[in-house]
Amino acid sequence: MKKRVFSGIRPTGKLHLGNYLGAVKQWLKLQDKYDCIYAVVDYHGITTPFDPQKMQQNILNVVLDYLALGLNPKKCSLIIQSHLPEHLELAWILGSVTSLAKLQHLPTFKEKVKLHPAYVNLGMLSYPVLMAADILIYKSNFVPVGKDQLPHIEFSREIARKFNRTFGKVFPEPKALLTRGARIMSLTDPEQKMSKSLGPQSYIALADSLKVIEAKIAKAVTDVGPRKGAKMSPGTANLFTLMQEFSDSKTLSYFKAKYKKGTIRYSEMKKALACDIAKAFEPFRKRRLELAKKPSYIKKILEEGAKKARKTAQETIKEVKKKIGLL
Ligand code: TYM
Repeated sequence: MKKRVFSGIRPTGKLHLGNYLGAVKQWLKLQDKYDCIYAVVDYHGITTPFDPQKMQQNILNVVLDYLALGLNPKKCSLIIQSHLPEHLELAWILGSVTSLAKLQHLPTFKEKVKLHPAYVNLGMLSYPVLMAADILIYKSNFVPVGKDQLPHIEFSREIARKFNRTFGKVFPEPKALLTRGARIMSLTDPEQKMSKSLGPQSYIALADSLKVIEAKIAKAVTDVGPRKGAKMSPGTANLFTLMQEFSDSKTLSYFKAKYKKGTIRYSEMKKALACDIAKAFEPFRKRRLELAKKPSYIKKILEEGAKKARKTAQETIKEVKKKIGLL
C-alpha cells in the first residue's frame, strides 16, 4: 500500500512564491510516488477576517493555481475541506484529547492574536485541532509544508499519540516534509515570512506579470550598499534564495561572486531575478487562463476528489467512534 500524503492551503487569494516553494513544489513530486490528498482548507480560512462575497472566488483561485501548477487529478485527490464534514467530526473528538494550555501557548496562535486583536475567536484557538483532524482523518504519513507550520505538525503528532494511548491505536504519527524554500521572506520586511497579510508589495503572486514582479522586486529591501566582508542581510539572502530556485547556475554564481567582491549592483541582480521568476511561471499563467474557462471541468475534479477522500474519511470516523464507545 502506498503511503499517504496530506496538505492544504487557505483560500486567502492567489498563491504566492512562499506557498509554491514551501509547499506545492514538493506536492508535485510527491504525487508520482504517494497517495496524495491536497485541500483548499476553507474552514481554516474563516478563522481570520474574510469577505463572504469573495470566498467562492478565492477557493476557485486556489484550485486553479493547483491545477495550473501541475497537480494532476489522475494522480492525486483535490478536495475542498468543507465538502467533507468528517474533518469537523474528527476535530470535535480530538478536541477532547487536546490540552487547552498547549493550544493557548502555540506561537502561531499568539501571532494571530497580535495580527487580529479584534477577531480572537474559538476557531482561531482550535485551528491546530482542525488541522490535526485534516491530517489524521486520512491516516496520513507525510505532510509537506513550509517551516511556519512545524509547530502545528508537532501538535498533530502529540494528539495522535494521546488518542492512541488513551483509546487504542488508530493513527500513524504524521511527519512534516520540508524543502530548501521552506521559509521565504517578505520583500518589504525580510525579518518576517512572505505572507499576504503584510500587503501586496511584500509578496509575489504566481499569477503576477513580469511588470508587476519587476516593480515589486525593485523595491525589495537589500543591504544599504555592497559591504565587503559584512554578514549578508536577510533581504539579500532572500533574493539569493529566490535566485537559487529560479535562475540558472551561471547567473547565480555571477552575482554571488560580485557580492563577495563587494561590487554587486542590486538593480542588475533584481532585474535578472524578476525576469527569471516571470519566465518560470509563464506556462503556468497560460494554463491558468485556459482552466478558468472550464468551470464544469473543475467542478467534476472536485466531486471526484471528494468522493474518493470521503470513503477513507468515513472509515476512519467509524473506527474512531468504535474506539471511544460511540458506536
Ligand atoms: P497557509 O495557507 O498559511 O500556507 C500554505 C502553505 O504555504 C506555506 N507557506 C510558506 N512556505 C515558505 N515560505 C513562506 N513565506 C510561506 N508562507 C506560507 C505554508 O507553510 C503552508 O505549507 N495551516 C495551514 C493550512 C492547513 C494545513 C492543514 C496544512 C490546514 N490544514 C493540514 C497541512 C495539513 C496554513 O495556514 O497554510
